[in-house]
Amino acid sequence: MLLHKSLANVLAILFLHVLRRVQSAEIVLKTALGDQPFNTFQEVNKPCQEGCLVNGNCNHELGLCECPFGLSGPTCQSQLYPACRTILASGGQRIYLGRTAPRNCYCYRQLLKGLCLPDDDSRCAFHTMQLWDVLYCFQRMATPEEQQFSELPERIDDPTYEWGRGTTSRTEVDGMVKLRKQIEHVQQLPTIEDISKAVPLSRCKARCYEQGVCQDWGGQAHCLCFAGYRGDDCSVAELAGEQACPGNCGGRGKCIAGFCKCDAPYWGFGCSRSKAYEPVPGSFAYPYFPSLKIYIYDMPANVVGSHQFEDGDIGVFATYQSFIRFEEMLINDSSGVRTENPYEANLFYIPAFAYYSTSNLGDPTAAVVRAVDWVAATFPFFNRTGGKDHFVLLSADRGACYLKTLPQTEHLIRVTHFGYERHNITNMGTLLHNTEYGCFKAGRDVVMSPYFKAKAPKIQELRTRLEQPEVLEAFIARKDVLFFFSGDIRHNEPEYSGGVRQALSLLLANNSYPDVVFKGGYMMLGGHDYEDLLTRSKFCLAPYGHGFGVRLTHALMHACVPVIIQDKVRQPFEDILHYPDFSIRVSKAELPRLVEMLRAVPQEDLVRMTKENSRIYRAFIWQPEMGGLAYNFTLASLWRRLSHLRGELYEAGVRR
Ligand SMILES: *[C@@H]1O[C@H](CO)[C@@H](O)[C@H](O)[C@H]1NC(C)=O
Ligand SMILES: *[C@@H]1O[C@H](CO)[C@@H](O)[C@H](O)[C@H]1NC(C)=O
Ligand SMILES: *[C@@H]1O[C@H](CO)[C@@H](O)[C@H](O)[C@H]1NC(C)=O
Ligand SMILES: *[C@@H]1O[C@H](CO)[C@@H](O)[C@H](O)[C@H]1NC(C)=O
Ligand SMILES: *[C@@H]1O[C@H](CO)[C@@H](O)[C@H](O)[C@H]1NC(C)=O
Repeated sequence: MLLHKSLANVLAILFLHVLRRVQSAEIVLKTALGDQPFNTFQEVNKPCQEGCLVNGNCNHELGLCECPFGLSGPTCQSQLYPACRTILASGGQRIYLGRTAPRNCYCYRQLLKGLCLPDDDSRCAFHTMQLWDVLYCFQRMATPEEQQFSELPERIDDPTYEWGRGTTSRTEVDGMVKLRKQIEHVQQLPTIEDISKAVPLSRCKARCYEQGVCQDWGGQAHCLCFAGYRGDDCSVAELAGEQACPGNCGGRGKCIAGFCKCDAPYWGFGCSRSKAYEPVPGSFAYPYFPSLKIYIYDMPANVVGSHQFEDGDIGVFATYQSFIRFEEMLINDSSGVRTENPYEANLFYIPAFAYYSTSNLGDPTAAVVRAVDWVAATFPFFNRTGGKDHFVLLSADRGACYLKTLPQTEHLIRVTHFGYERHNITNMGTLLHNTEYGCFKAGRDVVMSPYFKAKAPKIQELRTRLEQPEVLEAFIARKDVLFFFSGDIRHNEPEYSGGVRQALSLLLANNSYPDVVFKGGYMMLGGHDYEDLLTRSKFCLAPYGHGFGVRLTHALMHACVPVIIQDKVRQPFEDILHYPDFSIRVSKAELPRLVEMLRAVPQEDLVRMTKENSRIYRAFIWQPEMGGLAYNFTLASLWRRLSHLRGELYEAGVRR
């Protein structure tokens, strides 16, 4: 309890610090406004067209119907990608995309137009589009586009159909390489293996309710249901759950294939909206600064959203789930941080869901730009600061490294796990855009701890025991390994982990240190041995990998002092947490002396750091049942960023 309290104090002091600086600005503004009413709001409740609720939710803030992906219009009656339907019917048939079964070539063309950035169609907001070069497609010959749809022909060699493949061509315009996605006619028909054994829906039970694809694995056709459906005919809508719909639609609606169909009157993100506001006429609306107030934009599913990565698969690997957890915790936050009134908000969250477009190593630009374009066109808040009080969350390995600098993205606060701030990086792949500061800009961006699916009871038990000083000291005295690492090395990928794992592996191979355990490859140690070694070791290596590393979290969770070897990589919450108190930082250049350096650490320093790390580990915990302090630390870091902005906003307000 004591430990918990002191962390809470750190957070409270941070909030107070900013508060003191803003109060005086607020008085200046009020004085400048004279008698004009200030921040007086009234509720609005804009109606939607009748029929909206059949397929969608009514957004009473905008008076617009929220539709599932692929549907639009006042009652979600129009198809945005009609050739992606499986039947030629009018009405609200929903579409689902993945690459297991080929779709109509017109479907892919329509998606390309609708989902990719116009100036460079290699940047698309949809994972299937990233797989362009492996997509097969078919189309009916001599048939207009309106009559094309995505039902496979009975036979691949049906002479009334032709087949195509996605291809990407490079063109250079003014020295800039542009990638163009096209569909090329193929002479040679695909084999059934080429199209993942997909067969017409008519071969499957109940045509899989148009909610799956039909596959024939050796004589027996069966449905592969799209994410969100199950049953042998895909007729059962399942709560696709927390991954597809963060917060599980808050218990106020049903998550169907990534779309929350909310119970009236709710709408929006996690069906969490029921109220909307506007300033009363003549009242001057200005962000409320005494405390953090975040407004979450409720993005239309056609702009960005959670999508299947593959037919039937919407799963996000645990390591990348922080964007889901953060959103859930923000929706559920009852402390007043989240506001439904954007006029009083001082920070705006744009849920760009970029992970669903990029998966792990892709380019998030299209997802972010599409989201920003919608936000800037629909509300006045983005243009007010050029996005400086707006943030996106990019949880993929390389965070914001590939986010292109455009007017829409330039000022956004990027919340990521990877604080790589090296200039002019050349070795991280051609996608890397920014030469000035790499992936993280100090003073603008925030590094938060990655999501870690802790074995909660086990870790909690260890932690409870270690809270007793005698137990902690005995625990440290029992540690019989000086330094430990087990994981991928990748000698043939010099950029991996900045070369640290490779260099260490060579160094340690040439020497025999009885108190060092360093093993290449995940499979060398089973889960239990891995955890056992973490707790038996005094120091544990925390390098990065392809992008952010999770070893820092592993070490902290198991009461091992992290040895951070990540040149030029900002660590999670580094501007709030004092890292030298609980970790050791070593540069790559110092590697040859590493073992000596660790052996020379005095016992009392080891005890001090291990104790402190028992306190700090809470900043890395996302699970609400374990305190979920990673969320609070993320908010505290964001709040610090805002202190730079308040002056600018108030000045603009006074000038007005
Ligand atoms: C963390 O945030 C949650 C939600 O705002 C709040 O209930 C909790 O008290 C906070 N914890 C601390 C230690 O500040
Ligand atoms: C948020 O609230 C919903 C509805 O009460 C609940 O189902 C969900 O587990 C909560 N999520 C978190 C992260 O607390
Ligand atoms: C914000 O600026 C963009 C780009 O100049 C413009 O297209 C958009 O209409 C503006 N938004 C509003 C609400 O005025
Ligand atoms: C990055 O490279 C460019 C072009 O080579 C150069 O002009 C710039 O000074 C470099 N920036 C830094 C910070 O080294
Ligand atoms: C390790 O030893 C090998 C052969 O003895 C040598 O070629 C190599 O340079 C040494 N590596 C390091 C990092 O010292």
